Amino acid sequence: MLEIRDLHVKFHTREREAVAGISLTIRDGEILGLVGESGSGKTVTAMSIAGLLPRKQCRLSGEILLGGKDLLHADRSELRKIHGNEIGVVFQEPMSSMDPLMKVGLQVGETLRIHTDNSPEERKKLVLAALDDVELPDPEAIYNKYPHELSGGMQQRAMIAAAIASRPKLLLLDEPTTALDVTVQAQILELLKKLNRTHGISMMFISHNLNVVRKLCKRVAIMQRGELVETGDTEKIFTDPQHPYTQRLISAIPTRTRKEPV
Ligand SMILES: Nc1ncnc2c1ncn2[C@@H]1O[C@H](COP(=O)(O)OP(=O)(O)OP(=O)(O)O)[C@@H](O)[C@H]1O
Ligand SMILES: [Mg+2]
Repeated sequence: MLEIRDLHVKFHTREREAVAGISLTIRDGEILGLVGESGSGKTVTAMSIAGLLPRKQCRLSGEILLGGKDLLHADRSELRKIHGNEIGVVFQEPMSSMDPLMKVGLQVGETLRIHTDNSPEERKKLVLAALDDVELPDPEAIYNKYPHELSGGMQQRAMIAAAIASRPKLLLLDEPTTALDVTVQAQILELLKKLNRTHGISMMFISHNLNVVRKLCKRVAIMQRGELVETGDTEKIFTDPQHPYTQRLISAIPTRTRKEPV
């Protein structure tokens, strides 16, 4: 699906590389977890894949291959197509990613407007379908609402709808449930599982919550200071971590939940 080969990212203003040579594969149809301490380079990795890094402020090297194409070295028009159609992105704070003055339906359709040549009618159809996919009740009514008229969970569903409206093969999720309360968080996780199962969308799921990662992700990659210290089957890593950093992460989870997946 997606293969990262020896990715390096260095911001000009920083001494140390934010990402210091990672290689990682996201397989077809899988949900891969990416965990690690704050500042370890998880978001920068996701931004590199999504083509969202400010290119003038950093130096990038390596390869990011999607369907055989190298995203780091593709030309602009190719990238525009790939990023709009094949990769969707969801970030932590739905409210701060939404424009308060723009109706939900139009926002969900923004990526389609920017990245495809669909007519407004076609776009609306795709947006309504996406709102339905994320199980928002009465998509037509939601379409015409403003963000503040939606709860936090509904806003995050709308952002997920925006990310999947163009039917991407890969969804990058950067702490998509961290800002939500536990019940809503569980509902969003169920939704992600459903989208993975029924649409076959591959996902990279960044989270600080190891219990959530264990429930959702078949494989997990552990990052520390810009490097990947361990990658593998989630259950194996949780029960038999090899790297000292992973061992510390796992032993920091309360024991009651460590033994049994919750
Ligand atoms: N635009 C930028 N300019 C300079 N340095 C940056 C920029 N964005 C990120 N960094 C640095 O790159 C490193 C990796 O940051 P990143 O945001 O990827 O961490 P993270 O693993 O996502 O952390 P968190 O768990 O807190 O979200 C950090 O040292 C950060 O300060
Ligand atoms: Mg981050």
